[in-house]
Formats: sequence, C-alpha cells, structure tokens
Amino acid sequence: VARPPQRPVLPPPAPPPVPEARPVDLDGLAARVRDCRRCKLCLTRTNTVFGVGSPRAPVVFVGEGPGEEEDRRGEPFVGPAGRLLDRMLFSIGFTRDQVYIANVVKCRPPGNRNPDPDEVATCQGYLFDQLTMIRPRVLFALGRFAIISLLGRTDAVGRVRGRVYEWRGIPVVASYHPAFYLRQPGFKKAAWQDLLTLKKLLDQAAPGNQAAPGPTAS
Ligand code: URA
Repeated sequence: VARPPQRPVLPPPAPPPVPEARPVDLDGLAARVRDCRRCKLCLTRTNTVFGVGSPRAPVVFVGEGPGEEEDRRGEPFVGPAGRLLDRMLFSIGFTRDQVYIANVVKCRPPGNRNPDPDEVATCQGYLFDQLTMIRPRVLFALGRFAIISLLGRTDAVGRVRGRVYEWRGIPVVASYHPAFYLRQPGFKKAAWQDLLTLKKLLDQAAPGNQAAPGPTAS
C-alpha cells in the first residue's frame, strides 16, 4: 500500500525576541550605560561618564561629552571647564550635589573631538531616559551639542541663546559651554544673563508657588 508522502518536520518557530526591559531607575540606567557597546566610543573609553548629582535636582545641566579627566575619573565636568561650571553654580547659590550634571554622550570622543552625529543619535536615548527619570523643573543646555540634542537646533549658539525653549514640557535655557568662556572670557556676561534666567525660572517654578508652570508628568 502506498504511504502518503511524509510532511517535512519543521523546527518550531523561534520565539519572538524579548524586548530589552527598560531600567526603572537611574542606577539601573547607569549599569546599562556601564556595559554599553552601541557605538565605537566604547573601544577607546576608560570609563563611562553617566552623570552626578541629586536625582531630585530642580535643574539638570547638560554638557557635551567627557574629556580626558572625566574619562579617567568617570565623573562629568571635573576638568578645567568643570571648575568653571562649579563657580557658575556657586554664583547662583548651588553646589554640585544640589543639581544634576550629565552629558549628551557618555563616553569620551578620542582626542576631545566633537561627537559624531551617529554617536549623538545612539547615546541621546540614555540622556532622555535620565531626564525623564529626574524630571527637573528646568534644563540648562551647555553648548552646541546639548542644544542639538534637546532642541534639534543646529545654528550657532549665539543665535539660539537668550530665549527659553522647551524639551517635553520642561523649560530649557540654551547657553554657551563653559569651555567656550575659557577661550573667550569676554563672553562671560552672557553666562551671567543665562544663569539669571535659570534662577528666575526656578523661583517661578518653586513648589508652593501657585504661578509655577511646573512640568506635567507624561
Ligand atoms: N565638557 C563636557 O561637555 N562634559 C564634561 O563632562 C566635561 C567637559
């Protein structure tokens, strides 16, 4: 008796890929960044530089990316530009641990070159998660790359600064990078104006102030 042709036995279909669980807090996100190998900067870094400060900070300062000293120590803004940033904070009554400081890219671009567009695009999701977790009342963008990431504006900082913008409902003060003032001390008046704008926004948004335009959770 002729047997019916055997159906080929196919392997069971592969299960759908499990999506990477999103970290729920800053420590979980920092651990993910520590192991990150999503772009070529992982090949040359000494340490990742995630961010420092209070997770309940009213303001987050966003820089560009780690320099040599930051790469060695794993902490943002600890080199010459960082010492100036500390003085800027002090001038409006803050210490480092009362604010939060982070960068657009978490690994040092070799030789302190600018981060490449693909590096910014790959890394800025970490920054956005950080900002979403901290949910500060104000953001302070330090220089061109922070402005590109938060505002999508690629024009010169001098054309962008002087106005308050928004990132996902949070006011953004766009300003120069402290390293720029080290090269061009004549521009420090702009830093002071932008810090005063920040102070005003923080005073308006202080808890208990009914006029506060406080950001809504999304
Ligand atoms: N410049 C930055 O933008 N970030 C740092 O952490 C240090 C210098």
